[in-house]
Order: sequence, then C-alpha cells, then structure tokens
Amino acid sequence: MADKARLCLVGGGRMGQALAGGLLRSGWIAAGEITIAERQPERRSELSRRFPGVKVASEPVPAESAVLAVKPADATAAAQAIREAGIVRVISIVAGVRCCELEEILGEAVAVLRAMPNMPAIVGAAASALSGGKSAREEDLAWAEAVLSSVGVVARVPEGLLDAVTGLSGSGPAYLFVLAEAMVEGAVAEGLDRGVARLLANQTLLGASRLLNELDEPAEELRAAITSPGGTTAAGLRVLERNGFRSAVIEAVCAAAERARQLGGGPSRAGPASH
Ligand SMILES: NC(=O)c1ccc[n+]([C@@H]2O[C@H](COP(=O)([O-])OP(=O)(O)OC[C@H]3O[C@@H](n4cnc5c(N)ncnc54)[C@H](OP(=O)(O)O)[C@@H]3O)[C@@H](O)[C@H]2O)c1
Repeated sequence: MADKARLCLVGGGRMGQALAGGLLRSGWIAAGEITIAERQPERRSELSRRFPGVKVASEPVPAESAVLAVKPADATAAAQAIREAGIVRVISIVAGVRCCELEEILGEAVAVLRAMPNMPAIVGAAASALSGGKSAREEDLAWAEAVLSSVGVVARVPEGLLDAVTGLSGSGPAYLFVLAEAMVEGAVAEGLDRGVARLLANQTLLGASRLLNELDEPAEELRAAITSPGGTTAAGLRVLERNGFRSAVIEAVCAAAERARQLGGGPSRAGPASH
C-alpha cells in the first residue's frame, strides 16, 4: 500500500514522544515515514508542533510496524486497534502486559516484542531490556533493538526477567532522585545554599555515572579509588554502611521487581522482598 507508514507509534505521551524524538534525531526514520496515533487532541497539536512533517492521527493507521506506548489500562483497546490497522510487528513498552496477552489479541501471525525502557529515554539515555514473543524472529528482535537504541542502550533478556529489570532500571532513576534529594538536604544542613547544593549534587551524580560508563572499571574499584584510609569519604561511607544503605538498595530492587510480578499477575518469587 503506497501510503502505509513505516512506523505507527501508538500513544504520544511521555515515552511515545521520547521515542519519536530519538528515532528522528538518530536518522533511523524520516519524519514522513512515522505516524503518531494519540487520542488526546491537545497532545496531537503539541506533537505536530514538536515534530514537523510527522503525521499525527487519532487512532492507529496501517503501517509496517507499531510501537505500543499507552498506559497498561489502555493496552487491550490499543492492541485491538493495531490489529484492525493490519500491523504485523509490534513492540510494546507497556509495563506488566505479557507477550502472550498481546499475542492473544493480535493473533499468531503478528510478531510481538516486549521492552522495558526507563525515564531517561526523554534525554536519550534510556536503559532498556527487550524480549521476543512466540512469533518474534531474529530480524524482529534486531529491528526492536534499533528502535530502542535510538533512545539509549538495550539488553536482551528472557521475558521472565523483565520484572527484575523493572526493579533495577525501570525504578532505578527514582532511587537516584531520592539520593539526590538527600545529598542536597545534607549539604543545606551544612550551610550550603539550596541552589548551589542542587547544582553540585546533580553534577556529582552525572559525573559519577559517566565514570561508571566511560572508564569501564567496576563500581567497587572507583569507590576504593576515592576512599583513603581514615579520610572524609571513608567517614561518610561508614555512616551509609551502619545505616544499612547497601542492603536497603538491594531490597528496594527486589521489592520493585516483586511488585512488578504482582501487577503483571505472575508468580511471586521467594526473596528479600517477600518478607
Ligand atoms: N514513563 C516511564 O518512565 C516508563 C518506563 C517504562 C515503560 N513505560 C510504559 O510506557 C507506557 C506509556 O507511558 P507514558 O508515561 O508515556 O504514558 P502517557 O503519558 O499516559 O501516554 C500515553 C498516551 O497514549 C494515549 N492513548 C491511550 N490509549 C490510546 C489509544 N488507543 N490510541 C491512541 N492513544 C492512546 C493516552 O491518552 P489519555 O491521556 O487519554 O489516556 C496518552 O496521551 C506505559 O504503559 C508505561 O508502563 C513508561
């Protein structure tokens, strides 16, 4: 069909917009090849303004492939609309909705993939994990990897581990936001102006993240490199250890993963979060 879009992005909210922006910026797709299906008229106007040349529709249109990026409660209706549009390859980023549930709606002939990106997709720094459903072939996984790579890094995992990914990278940004808040509070208690404390705390998190990613040294080695015996960092770290910081983070990851399992209706797993 001549006017078939290459990609239909269903749901033009935060994540849909982030993906559209990433795909266009990376040059993986041209504006004329993508249609965003978004049911909110105000969002449609905003998306048209933000992405000149991109078609914006109120419902899914015929396309080679689709990305499903609506809230979990809207996923069934949106998947039905994708089926009606005749789309045969779909990647869903909807939290907690399993490939088999989508396969049931979309039918066996449709390649279904499921991914868990995270909020830094908005700035092109997402950590995403990807799994393929029953009919997904290597070329479908490679395609989905290319889509997700436009907003960050991608790792392939078995679908059963996507809940663990949710606990780690899905919820992980929130753990760091709490750390940022707490560091600022500590600095304010020590007399720093809040604005200065925020600037320095934010840049510290960014700088430490860049070291983790760019130096290819494990976190424990980087930590040891700035911890001299009897020094200031050692004094701070001792307080974190005494207050259970490390085990609190381990349990936070497990608790979030367990909650993802509960929300997805999957079996619970014995572990720190279950007691
Ligand atoms: N945000 C994150 O950090 C993150 C991370 C990983 C995964 N996810 C997943 O990504 C999905 C999208 O999240 P989000 O934060 O982008 O949600 P969002 O901001 O609510 O965006 C979804 C948009 O899709 C619209 N919509 C709903 N049903 C539709 C349909 N049938 N056709 C066309 N448009 C439709 C919604 O309209 P209404 O406003 O009328 O509902 C809304 O504007 C969620 O399932 C979430 O679990 C999000």
